Order: sequence, then C-alpha cells, then structure tokens
Amino acid sequence: MDFAAALKHLVTQVETGLDRYVTAATTRPARLHEAMRYSLLGGGKRLRPVLTLATARALGLTDDSALPAAVALECVHTYSLIHDDLPCMDNDDLRRGRPTVHRQFDEATALLAGDALLTESFVILSVHYSSRPTLAQALTRELADAASSRRLIGGQMEDLLAEKKPTATVDELEFIHINKTAAMIEAAFVMGGICAEAPQDSITVLRTVGHHVGLAFQIIDDVLDATADTATLGKTAGKDAKADKTTFVKLHGIESSRRLAHEHSQAAQTALHSLTGDSAFLQALIESMAARVN
Ligand code: IPE
Ligand code: IPE
Ligand code: MG
Ligand code: MG
Ligand code: MG
Repeated sequence: MDFAAALKHLVTQVETGLDRYVTAATTRPARLHEAMRYSLLGGGKRLRPVLTLATARALGLTDDSALPAAVALECVHTYSLIHDDLPCMDNDDLRRGRPTVHRQFDEATALLAGDALLTESFVILSVHYSSRPTLAQALTRELADAASSRRLIGGQMEDLLAEKKPTATVDELEFIHINKTAAMIEAAFVMGGICAEAPQDSITVLRTVGHHVGLAFQIIDDVLDATADTATLGKTAGKDAKADKTTFVKLHGIESSRRLAHEHSQAAQTALHSLTGDSAFLQALIESMAARVN
C-alpha cells in the first residue's frame, strides 16, 4: 500500500465534500458565509474526517456514505478553532498559515462564523442521512456528545481555568486533554464505525483507540508549541508558555511528554489489533500522526 497516495486521496475527498456540502459563499449574508469558508477551506490537515473515512473503509464500507459525517466533524472542529483563537480565549493571530478569522474579518464575524459552522454540521447530518434515520440519530448523538459541555467545551473551560494556575494537577491536565481534544478524535473513529454499521464491540474498541490517539495528539500539540517554529506550525509557536497554560510540557517536561505521547500511540495500536477488519491504513495513519511536525 502506498500510504502517502492513499492519504492524499482521502484528503482530496474531504476537501471536495467540504466544498460541496457547506453553504455557498455567495449565500446571503455573504460576509458570514465567506468567513465560514475562509476558515474551513483554508488548509488544515483534515485528520479527523480522514480518520472517519478510513475507519469506515477498514470496517468494510465500500461506498462514500461516510463523507457527510466526515464533513460534519470537520465543521465542528473548525468552529472550535475559530473560537479557540478569539481574543477572549487564546488570542491567536495565525491559524492554518493565515490570519485568524477575527483578524481577517472581525471579532463578531468570527463568533458568528463559529456558531454557524457548529449548526451547519447538524444540518449536514440531518439532510444527508434523512433516508436512514437510525444512522442519522447515532451520528448526531456521537457528534453532539463530543462537542458538548461535558467534552470539548468542558475541556476548553478547564483549559482556561487552569491558565496561570501553579497548583494544577495531573488529573486536571488529563481532564483538559481528554475532553478538549480526544473527544473529537474519539468521535472521528466512532462515527466511521457507525457509518459502517459496526457491531457494538467494534465501537468499544474504536473508542479506546480514539482516546489514546487523541491524548497523544494533544500531548504532541503541546510539545510542538514549545519546540517547533511558527512557519512550520502555521500557528503562533510558544503561545502556551506565554499564556502559562497547563500543558504536558509544563507538568512533565518535553522528554517525558514525548515518551507519554509515544505510549498512548502504542496503546492505540495495540487496541486496534483487536478490531476485525483491514486496519493497515489506520495503523500507518496513527504512526504518521505520532511523528507529525505540524
Ligand atoms: C488543532 O488541531 C487543535 C488541537 C486539537 C490541537 P489540528 O492540529 O488537527 O489542526 P488543523 O485542523 O490541522 O488545522
Ligand atoms: C485547542 O487546543 C483545542 C480545541 C480547539 C478544542 P489548543 O489551544 O492547544 O489548540 P491550538 O494549539 O491553538 O491549535
Ligand atoms: Mg486553546
Ligand atoms: Mg489555542
Ligand atoms: Mg496548542
């Protein structure tokens, strides 16, 4: 298998789906739809939607019926980035190698574009799975749960509460990472499984895999913030230390963080072995995510 070519193929599929399923830029009010598409179509690694498509394929899905689910997931992810960058949150000027939405447009437009992308994701699920209500319900529940106050938003809340907190504990740090980041990566695997109508025991395996891949992903994000440069990252490097965020680097140091990320990545690979299906591409993808430089 040519991993790079297979990955490129899936990324292209995602890009096409994003363009096709998300409201056109000329729709009134054009400024809002332009801002939504500016952030959504302006780069990004597309790892979550690719994970959804690859998981569905690994479990035997042969058509492209997982694509709307993958697109919906990327809409929620992109909304979370727009809001994460706002001055009242992480106050970032750069995202995906370009000015953040509030910099390119303005703060109110960025807030609304984020709101609209969140809603858009559920419009996409309800429209594209309308003929399969059981599937629509399961996907909606999974995505809504990952984006909820107990998961993504809960993690973001504790991330802010833990800024400049000298007494932050390992338990708080894990809560932040499991929820602000791993929840959506878990959902990426599970939504792929749901699209392939996988049995419950496979869904359980996928959730475990997603948990470990997600934790590794955010630990690596913390390490890269401290070690990589802004041009490579496409977002401002060194922001976590400046804001005195509670990160793996702050609590464990760079070397231990790298080791912990590696351990979670290995735990994901081990869990994946018990999945019935062809998981060769997923294994290669998890390996490449562990070695990523941006
Ligand atoms: C950034 O996610 C936010 C985190 C959860 C660390 P990605 O690193 O996947 O960002 P894009 O989608 O490629 O821009
Ligand atoms: C963001 O974590 C997680 C979400 C957007 C939910 P970070 O704040 O570390 O992400 P970056 O580094 O800005 O991409
Ligand atoms: Mg943040
Ligand atoms: Mg941030
Ligand atoms: Mg970060």
